[in-house]
Amino acid sequence: MRFHVLTLFPEMVEQCLGSSIIGRAIDSKKIELDVVDIRDYSADEKHHKVDDYPYGGGAGMLMQAQPVYDAYLAVSKDCAKRPRTIYVTPQGRQFDQDLANELVKEEDLVFICGHYEGIDERVLEEVVTDQISIGDYVLTGGELPAMVMIDAISRLVPGVLHNDFSAETETFHQDLLEYPQYTRPEVWHDKKVPDVLLSGDHKKVLAWRNEKSVEKTKRLRPDLYEKYDRLQGIVARLMKNKRKYIHMIELIRRGRAECLYENDMTIALRDKKSGTIQLCAEDPDTVETLLSHPVVAEGIRKRQLFVVCQKWILDALLSYDHMKCSKTCYQGCYTLKNAMPVPYKNIRNVTMEYLDYCTENYYGERDYVKNRIEAGMLYGAFDKEDSTKIMGFMGIHNDGSTGMLFVDPAYRRMGIAESLEGYTLNKLIVEGLTPYGHVYESNMPSFKLQDKMGIIMCNEPMWWVYDDGEEENE
Ligand code: ADE
Repeated sequence: MRFHVLTLFPEMVEQCLGSSIIGRAIDSKKIELDVVDIRDYSADEKHHKVDDYPYGGGAGMLMQAQPVYDAYLAVSKDCAKRPRTIYVTPQGRQFDQDLANELVKEEDLVFICGHYEGIDERVLEEVVTDQISIGDYVLTGGELPAMVMIDAISRLVPGVLHNDFSAETETFHQDLLEYPQYTRPEVWHDKKVPDVLLSGDHKKVLAWRNEKSVEKTKRLRPDLYEKYDRLQGIVARLMKNKRKYIHMIELIRRGRAECLYENDMTIALRDKKSGTIQLCAEDPDTVETLLSHPVVAEGIRKRQLFVVCQKWILDALLSYDHMKCSKTCYQGCYTLKNAMPVPYKNIRNVTMEYLDYCTENYYGERDYVKNRIEAGMLYGAFDKEDSTKIMGFMGIHNDGSTGMLFVDPAYRRMGIAESLEGYTLNKLIVEGLTPYGHVYESNMPSFKLQDKMGIIMCNEPMWWVYDDGEEENE
């Protein structure tokens, strides 16, 4: 991901973003920062002037169109497509976590930082795709807001945070505020760290943290609490058929769900990270209501991936010309809280040297495999005799489900698959999550493995529905 910042104060941006976590991410090339001094594009060779008085009078000076435009042209000519170009302004749409999740999907982002009283409207009309504010207050320039956004977006780039799970599934906090945290010493100013945190009982610690998060959210952010409470109501209904609906339950628990519609067992959720839409309609008469919801309708038009729980929803989606492809799968989940056995010990995170190997053995999907490796979500088993030799791998998908299992033919029937699966599931179990995964209906070896591992499969199918890969006509 590349950030291009067009500014009159390049040193401010370089200095601030050059340190700490973002600085390290730049050094290790997880992200690129391209700071462009707009003054370098001034037509005024002598004084490098970039501002002038506003026509019609008024206070202050305006940044002129030409230097901003030329700086933009210099940057955009190196981008693969017209880059999303953000003018940071208090008049824009308010920045939030959902917008950060959306923007992190771009290859290039251009930020235009205004100063003085603003920028000549004509250049904004020509280059800007988004106007974004960081809040209802006015700062002296756009650099700080641009840096706030770059920080929030960068920490979502795989590999920028070393704690694999915090960027992947924020989450794990279910839209709640953070619980209180403590470090040494055990007693400070006569205040003792809560006993439960010293108990070593991981389950109790998770329960305590959740309780504190709920209390704090209720007290400090009643608006967030209301959202949380509504989602909890949905979880309670879905729990009646946990195996069938575990993907929806976990989407909510991991703080990734936006509820689009809910009425009894007619439910539409959107994954805030991937945009995937999950639909459930136990009553066939309610399918129309679901599909006519504006966000669902837009998802159909934009060819989002749909995951649907009933055949009648599948049939309704397939009636759209471009939603031609579907896959039938069965999902299973591991509901016990104790860790799984991992008899084969030589398992660790897959690193980039193994990208070719994993791509070859995962449908040639290089970009996706790379993304999973960078996110720290792909785990490999390595030969004990030669620890550089990979024997197989398994991982956590970008929707949070487990999968991608592959074992090299030379190493089959040695229990490697079981150990890889145990290792992967344990990553989720220690976070207090319920591991779940989807198995294609024809994948008999996988069904056998799930059975052996104590993973109980749902006996009703579900479907992925997606477009036919052709361009949208608009
Ligand atoms: N420029 C000045 N104030 C701003 C704000 N609150 N958000 C974005 N850009 C700004």
